[in-house]
Amino acid sequence: MGNLKIIVFPMLVLAMAMAMAISVLPYPWAVAVSEDTLFINYHIHVVNDLPLFHSPPDVPQFYLHCKSGDRDIGDKAMLKGEDYSWDTKVNLFRTTLFFCNARWINYKWIRFDAFKASRDEKRCGEYHNSCMWSVRSNGIYFSNNNATWTNEYPW
Ligand SMILES: *[C@@H]1O[C@H](CO)[C@@H](O)[C@H](O)[C@H]1NC(C)=O
Repeated sequence: MGNLKIIVFPMLVLAMAMAMAISVLPYPWAVAVSEDTLFINYHIHVVNDLPLFHSPPDVPQFYLHCKSGDRDIGDKAMLKGEDYSWDTKVNLFRTTLFFCNARWINYKWIRFDAFKASRDEKRCGEYHNSCMWSVRSNGIYFSNNNATWTNEYPW
């Protein structure tokens, strides 16, 4: 009897350890798969497609300033056709957010989110990992293919 206990107990411990290993093992795999997009370098473009408001045309009529919690892309007075762009990766917690303040001359400032991981990680992965914004007279349009555009932030 004494000998049997000595054998059964280590076997039980071993069985429990194996059960725990099986329940834990698939976890790192799942994490590795969902982390793939963390390596993607996203390109964000904001293009001034506003019509000219005043002459002369070489005077900037659109002001843009984009930043995240820890990165400032800078203030820019933009000429017609200019592209304000930067790159970013998605952080481990997928909370990456770049917002912009924009003002067309004589109009009020508006704020829009130029890159928000929860919204854009997938849709901006469709075309060269790019999020494209076109600033127009009735709002700020988004495209994830550089062909079809939707007005996501009307002025
Ligand atoms: C989008 O298309 C325009 C016009 O053809 C081109 O100049 C621009 O480089 C394209 N942008 C991207 C991000 O491919």
